[in-house]
Amino acid sequence: MESPFKAEILKGKVALITGGGSGIGFEISTQFGKHGASIAIMGRRKQVLDSAVSALHSLGIPAVGFEGDVRKQEDAKKVVELTFKHFGSLDILVNAAAGNFLVAAEDLSPNGFRTVLDIDSVGTFTMCHEAREYLKKDGPGRRSSGGGIILNISATLHYTASWYQIHVSAAKAAVDATTRNLALEWGTDYDIRVNGIAPGPIGDTPGMSKLAPGEIDSEARDYMPLFKLGEKWDIAMAALYLASDAGKYINGTTMVVDGGLWLSRPRH
Ligand code: HXC
Repeated sequence: MESPFKAEILKGKVALITGGGSGIGFEISTQFGKHGASIAIMGRRKQVLDSAVSALHSLGIPAVGFEGDVRKQEDAKKVVELTFKHFGSLDILVNAAAGNFLVAAEDLSPNGFRTVLDIDSVGTFTMCHEAREYLKKDGPGRRSSGGGIILNISATLHYTASWYQIHVSAAKAAVDATTRNLALEWGTDYDIRVNGIAPGPIGDTPGMSKLAPGEIDSEARDYMPLFKLGEKWDIAMAALYLASDAGKYINGTTMVVDGGLWLSRPRH
């Protein structure tokens, strides 16, 4: 689908996207690139990074991939530095890396719980921690007058409760708290805007194939207000809005992009 935004809304910006090689992260990488940004992707799998970067290059997007695990502070530091060295600035950090699996709480080990918090929550904070120096107003290489932008990809699971997702619900609740607290502190001190996006079920993503491997059944469709899954494109458009000047007064919010699904209930 054609983007409703002008092609230059992120012109000259440099975006680092964790988990940017696949799924929602890759769509954000692509759309940010199509709207003028240079793209650095961080991920654990070299093969995924390589094919994502060549796909971006084939669209004429300046892009580079850096191997790293958001659970390791030294990787986070290294990738942030390499991004700065490669492109000369860092304007936008998108935390899209996540871990997930379905498991009943009684079958989940504390280490399994911790692993997902390590990736989603601690990983998000670690990336923010390492990027702060570059994103702050008047940070090294910053060309625009203001500070940079952080976008944290969250979920809606924890607004209520979700079967077999205790670890991810806890992790995303922490991500949302991190979004709000950094928005307060770093918005005030460094002019960095920090926002989140909470996608609903998005088709053709690793998340959907892990969490809902079958078709959404007709009973479920009955209470999905828009009667369909979202598209990765929907999340990327929300990300563009928040990362561009269109969102310049938005700080500390997590935008739900789910067609209203989390509010819906079966008809009685
Ligand atoms: C129960 C499990 C498990 C499973 C792992 N564990 N998989 N427990 N059921 N299916 C437990 C292990 O037993 C172990 O605990 C601990 O978790 C760590 O497992 P490892 O395999 O060593 O971890 P690692 O290799 O680091 O892999 C991390 C991972 C994996 C999260 C488990 O799935 C991963 O790398 N995922 C990244 C990609 C991904 O998931 N993308 C989808 C994101 S979708 P013990 O006690 O045995 O040592 C998404 C959508 C969220 O995030 C929102 C939905 C609406």
